[in-house]
Amino acid sequence: MAIVDELTTLQAGTLAAIESAADTTALEKVRVAVLGRSGTLTGYLRSMGQVPADQRAAVGKTANIVRKAVEGALEVRKHALEHAELDARMAAGAVDVTLPGRAQQVGTRHLISRITDEISEVFLGIGYTVASGTEVETDYYNFEALNTPADHPARGMQDTFYVVDRSGDVAAVRGESDVLLRTQTSGVQAHTMENQEPPIYIIAPGKVYRRDVADPSHLPQFNQIEGLVVDKGITFGDLKGTIDYFCKQIFGEDRKTRLRPHYFPFTEPSAEADVSCGICHGKGCRFCKGTGWVEVLGCGMVDPNVFGYAGIDPEVYSGFAFGMGVERIACLKYNVPDLRMLLEGDMRFLRQF
Ligand code: DAH
Repeated sequence: MAIVDELTTLQAGTLAAIESAADTTALEKVRVAVLGRSGTLTGYLRSMGQVPADQRAAVGKTANIVRKAVEGALEVRKHALEHAELDARMAAGAVDVTLPGRAQQVGTRHLISRITDEISEVFLGIGYTVASGTEVETDYYNFEALNTPADHPARGMQDTFYVVDRSGDVAAVRGESDVLLRTQTSGVQAHTMENQEPPIYIIAPGKVYRRDVADPSHLPQFNQIEGLVVDKGITFGDLKGTIDYFCKQIFGEDRKTRLRPHYFPFTEPSAEADVSCGICHGKGCRFCKGTGWVEVLGCGMVDPNVFGYAGIDPEVYSGFAFGMGVERIACLKYNVPDLRMLLEGDMRFLRQF
């Protein structure tokens, strides 16, 4: 048979083999057998030198046509087989991508953290900065430097947890330790005044502790935000305006505020600030115990004695301070009747906010 005819037969046989290759592995075998290093067509191409000169052009041309046809067919078949194999793998994997996914529960910040930020934003917006203190504090900063010496009756309302050294020192166990869990954020006032020259405009959020049993209006651990302003010419009017602005920002423009005389050891005069009741709007209801007002915070003008402890001259500077319970503000804002509800971790309750 003439070489050209042999090549034509090889082409026909190879194309048939390509067409009937069942998978890409079988197809690769066909390719190697024809086009591989010792493949049949490769053999023809290599031995062109031995082809009689008068047939060489025709044989070369045919060999090239056969190579192109085989390469083309291999390419097409490879594509088809790869597709089929992918389809088969997908079917075997049997993942139904149309099934809806399982919803992830996305957490949110706790109401107490959110209210702390909201209150902080109000004061940051009028030029205050945030100061921080430690939860473990000395007796000096928690009481003494705030004009509350050891025999002061006001200490009675703020019994706390004392930190005892590891030796279990008996005096410390009896509550005579100098190191305690702070009962108020007011100690940050004393630290700030020692470390910073006036003018001072700060708030100090943080956790505080009391030896109280939890009930609707008390918690043994809760959060406070302290405020302190020290500058030249600060008056009681500045305090009143600041408290009124704060209450309207947090509770709404329609709320009224009032100051009631009160006593705190570290302010003189001292007051408690009330905001008009959010439920009855001042008419009197169960929530406000018929008064039309609810208490929001304690405040007053910084006592000259407190300036004395911190080394600030009360003849040059004056200031005001205030302190509020964050849980209390949260409950007032959302009309929650019991502080403990904020801490029970009941998601049905917490998700409402
Ligand atoms: N520290 C007080 C408390 O825990 C709250 C307070 C009242 C803070 C009056 C103040 C203030 O700064 O001026 O009951």
